[in-house]
Amino acid sequence: MLSLDLLKIPNHIAVIMDGNGRWAKSQGKDRLFGHAAGVEAVRDTLKAAKEFGVKYLTLYAFSTENWSRPQAEIDGLMDLLIDAITSELDSLENNGVRLLTIGDINGLPENCRKGMENAIEKTKENKGITLILALNYSARIEITKAVQSILLNEKNISIESITPELISKHLFTKNIPDPELLIRTSGENRVSNFMLWQIAYTELHFARIYWPEFRREHFIAAIEDYQNRERRFGKISEQIHPII
Ligand code: FPP
Repeated sequence: MLSLDLLKIPNHIAVIMDGNGRWAKSQGKDRLFGHAAGVEAVRDTLKAAKEFGVKYLTLYAFSTENWSRPQAEIDGLMDLLIDAITSELDSLENNGVRLLTIGDINGLPENCRKGMENAIEKTKENKGITLILALNYSARIEITKAVQSILLNEKNISIESITPELISKHLFTKNIPDPELLIRTSGENRVSNFMLWQIAYTELHFARIYWPEFRREHFIAAIEDYQNRERRFGKISEQIHPII
């Protein structure tokens, strides 16, 4: 029996997919084998998210820091991303998945950028679930660019007009609600420069398995963990659950 409360499903779930390399090593394989196995976990997670009515699923697929990895791993990851998006495009379209990216996709290899832009264009009318891939992403750069964008694009800017709402409007995630739940796999307990602005009130769930092992049951366990938390947003418990 499903243990989830379907009326309390997070609207937006973000995931730091971590541990592909360590999982591959544990299997005696090279790191790219781990990334390839990670695609299966992506497929399973997206399917489960759509089934439970999650509206936004954000996956941290490539950080700006990842450029410092060995070139062969970077090339392999880019090929994998483009292959996955190209081969899954029909399935994304048929299942009502809208694709978006956050991060600086102009910094990606041209074929990867073009493949992403094509998939974004083809899926833009889909209404089922929005899959957001964080590619060449850094939260600090995102916030820095937001400040630059405010100075460049906002007319008659004054000190008082700089508000959290205005900053949100200039982030990569403008028009996307903040995640209620952030999942990180692999047992590392940190957020690694991911959505630092957006996760101010997000519940964090650390799954102690590597990303290639992550499946529907782990996704359910993460949502269950979320549903057992009390989200107080700075208030006290009695204000959330008044005794009448
Ligand atoms: C982290 O594991 C994983 C990544 C940096 C890449 C994630 C990419 C995929 C799962 C492939 C394709 C994705 C999509 C969206 C189709 P790690 O390499 O940091 O592992 P380690 O910490 O064990 O070294």
